[in-house]
Amino acid sequence: MRVVYPGSFDPPTNGHLDIILRSSKLVDKLVVAVLKNPSKKSMFSVDERVDMLKELTKDIHNVSVTSFSGLLVDFCREIECKTVIRGLRAVTDFEYEFQIALTNKTMDEEIETLFMPTNTQNLWLSSSVVKEIAIFGGSYDKMVPDIVKQKLEKKVYEGGFKDARIH
Ligand code: PNS
Repeated sequence: MRVVYPGSFDPPTNGHLDIILRSSKLVDKLVVAVLKNPSKKSMFSVDERVDMLKELTKDIHNVSVTSFSGLLVDFCREIECKTVIRGLRAVTDFEYEFQIALTNKTMDEEIETLFMPTNTQNLWLSSSVVKEIAIFGGSYDKMVPDIVKQKLEKKVYEGGFKDARIH
C-alpha cells in the first residue's frame, strides 16, 4: 500500500518523525508531502522543510519526501495514491482532522484517511509550540531532532521568526 503523509512540517518535530517511522513499517511506500501554502506565513521555506525531512528519513528505504500545492486529493490522484495518514494527538485534533478527512472524502470518495495516535511523549507537541519556545529562548531539545534544532537556532538568530505565524 502507498500512503501519503501530508502536512506543513514547519518545522518537522519528533512527533512527525515518530509517525513517519511507525507508519513506514506498515506500508510499502510512504510519501511525506509538504504543503506549499503561499497564504500561510511560515518560518521555513518549503525547500528547507523538504530538505530537513529528506535528511531525517534518509535511512528509511520506503520513504520519499516531496511538496505539493493545491488540493490534497488532486495530489493523491497525480501520484496514484488513495490513502492518507495523519497523526492524532489529543482529542482537540479530532474536529480539525475529521474536517480534513471528510472534506477529502466528499471530493473524492476513493481517498481513505487513516489516523495514527501519537506516542505519549508527543501528546502536546506541535511545530507552533516548538517555534514559540525557540523564539523565547527556552529548551526544546526533546521536541525536535538535532538537525531541526540547529536550523531553528540559526533561524531565530537571523531573525527568521519575524515572518512566522505562531498559533
Ligand atoms: O500540518 P497541517 O498544517 O495540519 O496540515 C494540513 C494539511 C496540509 C494536511 C491540509 O491543510 C491540506 O491537505 N491542505 C491542502 C489543501 C486541501 O486539500 N484542502 C481541502 C481539505 S481541508
